[in-house]
Amino acid sequence: MKCVDDFRFRLGKNECVPIIVGGMGVDISSRELALEAARLGGIGHLSDAMLPTVTDRHQDTQFVKAKSKLHKYNVANKDKSSVKFDLEQVAEATRLHVTKTMDEKRGSGMIFVNCMEKLTMNSPRDTLRVRLHGVLSAGIDGITLSAGLHLGSFALMEDHPRFRDAKLGIIVSSVRALQLFLRKNAKLNRLPDYIIVEGPLAGGHLGFGLDWQQYDLRTIFDEILQYLKTENLAIPLIPAGGIFTGSDATSYLEAGAAAVQVATRFTISHECGLPADVKQEYFKAIEDDIEVNMISPTGYPMRMLKKSPAIGAGIRPNCEAYGYLLDSNGNCAYVDAYNKEVDDHPNAKKISIMSKTCLCTHMRNFDCWTCGHYTYRLKDTTRQQADGSYQILTAEHIFKDYQFSKDNKITLPA
Ligand SMILES: Cc1cc2nc3c(=O)[nH]c(=O)nc-3n(C[C@H](O)[C@H](O)[C@H](O)COP(=O)(O)O)c2cc1C
Repeated sequence: MKCVDDFRFRLGKNECVPIIVGGMGVDISSRELALEAARLGGIGHLSDAMLPTVTDRHQDTQFVKAKSKLHKYNVANKDKSSVKFDLEQVAEATRLHVTKTMDEKRGSGMIFVNCMEKLTMNSPRDTLRVRLHGVLSAGIDGITLSAGLHLGSFALMEDHPRFRDAKLGIIVSSVRALQLFLRKNAKLNRLPDYIIVEGPLAGGHLGFGLDWQQYDLRTIFDEILQYLKTENLAIPLIPAGGIFTGSDATSYLEAGAAAVQVATRFTISHECGLPADVKQEYFKAIEDDIEVNMISPTGYPMRMLKKSPAIGAGIRPNCEAYGYLLDSNGNCAYVDAYNKEVDDHPNAKKISIMSKTCLCTHMRNFDCWTCGHYTYRLKDTTRQQADGSYQILTAEHIFKDYQFSKDNKITLPA
């Protein structure tokens, strides 16, 4: 019987353990987690979501304070179109976060950045370009394009000296999305180095509608694998979403996957950025505590714990400090929902908004507890302690369990 360690992921000159820890914004897939994945010979991800505030938290910077001060005059204004990012500051935050991480990288693995197109930042093209160029210049090993079709993202990087040397991949949830991407980029003469096919059981935003239950990863994986064969495209294919045991991973590797991308099992690791009490909420969750809802202003469905403080909160939009979801006209679905609620209840001291959430603020504060479908199985991966809490695991323990376990077994910690 085979295990994950019987396979290797060959990517250019690199040979990795075929385990990729997926990007989890905002700072859930922390530097520490990415560094561990690389040290162990796999691939880790940073997220490039909200890097100015992430950098403020970990380094001696004050990007958020500076942005808030500049736009203070607009806090009470319903119209957020004048709240712009300073591109140099975005570039600097990106540089600081990525450089610090790459300087500390040890081992034979790699570190990629997860880059979400949906972070439109009131100027989608300019800000995306700065983020992409920023991570390339800071020496990242690769970029995984996510949360969007990214039809123009390769072109935005084309003039960067590392465009053909860095590893560039795309996350898709259907063969159609992949075809669109390939067609749109054909003239650049630069194929993606890997394709991640993400199914409906993943955490974060989903590339499906609320009918996500109609789809399954295995079917979409097979369709894309077949398509790549038919088109003679030798691009590594990597499934993601609901791969919970080493045996789940091995079965995909035997079926032709180049590697697997996993995330949920690492959310309760020491190295994961979530606060300790939130990790316990993930452990405690039962299946019924998890839902896919539409409260993200991005318009994509998102999976989370029903207990997330973000659900139903009615805070004033924080665009002057953050504003990552403002579209090119300065609109955000939460700002609209908030303004409507305030207009409808002008005398209310406190309001609650169920339809949308201020995702920037709540992700930044770890109050939107986004999670994968199998979060309810996390309690089976550890031991419950005398006080009722669950033992936090090291990323190394989880990584090695994926790498070596057989027979659907999960090794409990010592
Ligand atoms: C807490 C959490 C946050 C996530 N955030 C992001 C994100 O910011 N961007 C993204 O592309 N994928 C995100 N994902 C998806 C993962 O990168 C990964 O592809 C997927 O969750 C793998 O499935 P699994 O969690 O069942 O192992 C997130 C997943 C989790 C669990």
